[in-house]
Amino acid sequence: MEEQAVLEIRHVSKTIGSKKIIQDLSFEVYPGEVFGFLGPNGAGKTTLIRMIVGLMKMNKGDILIHGQTIKGRFEEAIRHVGAIVENPEMYKFLSGKRNLLHYARMFPGGIPQARISEVVELVGLKNRINEKVKTYSLGMRQRLGVAQALLHRPSLLILDEPTNGLDPAGIRELRDYLRRLAREEGIAIVVSSHLLSEMELMCDRVAIIQQGKLIDIQNLRGEGAAEAQTSYFFEVNDPAVAQAIVQEVDPALPVVLRPDGIEISAGRERAADIGTLLVQAGLRLYTMKPLTQSLEDKFLKITGSDQIA
Ligand SMILES: Nc1ncnc2c1ncn2[C@@H]1O[C@H](COP(=O)(O)OP(=O)(O)O)[C@@H](O)[C@H]1O
Ligand SMILES: [Mg+2]
Repeated sequence: MEEQAVLEIRHVSKTIGSKKIIQDLSFEVYPGEVFGFLGPNGAGKTTLIRMIVGLMKMNKGDILIHGQTIKGRFEEAIRHVGAIVENPEMYKFLSGKRNLLHYARMFPGGIPQARISEVVELVGLKNRINEKVKTYSLGMRQRLGVAQALLHRPSLLILDEPTNGLDPAGIRELRDYLRRLAREEGIAIVVSSHLLSEMELMCDRVAIIQQGKLIDIQNLRGEGAAEAQTSYFFEVNDPAVAQAIVQEVDPALPVVLRPDGIEISAGRERAADIGTLLVQAGLRLYTMKPLTQSLEDKFLKITGSDQIA
């Protein structure tokens, strides 16, 4: 049986005035995956997110969360969602902890104290949680926002441009948290960004959106992605010897000699075997990397380099 999608976007369209902002978008997001909305500024990412969390109505189509349409039973559906749209609201002169307590009180039935400690731990703010938010770095505020969005144990977490304004270390931290959240807690995470390098590192799958239209969905990890690899580069200390070794064991395998290594047409498993072979033959294997058209190439082709911020 196929796993039930956490989020289903079905033929969603949005027009404002005469402008088509979102045009017939359809896709699904599953538990435990980090799913990206990638598109240049103005592509419609925020609009789509606003519709998912009920801040804006769609003109056509439907959005389902755990199989429940947000049109019919919004309360029921939105219970499963935690989101940060634009900047999370924080009281700068209160501590991180007091911000969370304040927010926790807004949930019907409340949030147990233990859950607050749990989310604080989860986002790595334990040591600073009693300090005022104004002393926090942007990355810490972002993490506090994530903690806030996670309080009620959502199974779908949506973050609009979460890395905006973060430095590289902050981005990396957030990325690691999100990946861990998805993997360990099975939460489906949706993030939007106009920066493909980030999405490439953070997401399992990416929907490329341009002018409100779905251009493509790319699988970046998992079996599908690995199987699709058809060539690998091996950086070694003696490329000519490496070439000879590979040709000896498999004369039919095309090997391209490069100044710093060899390139071989092979899938992931075969490539791993070749790596072992080279090492066993006494060569220094510095790197081994898949060579396929990167998401960047595809993204550039689709959007035109001028549109990349
Ligand atoms: N309330 C609105 N009224 C009119 N146009 C809007 C409104 N909100 C967004 N837009 C337009 O919709 C398009 C998509 O915007 P947005 O969803 O913010 O894109 P993104 O988040 O991908 O940068 C833009 O052209 C924007 O100008
Ligand atoms: Mg936006």
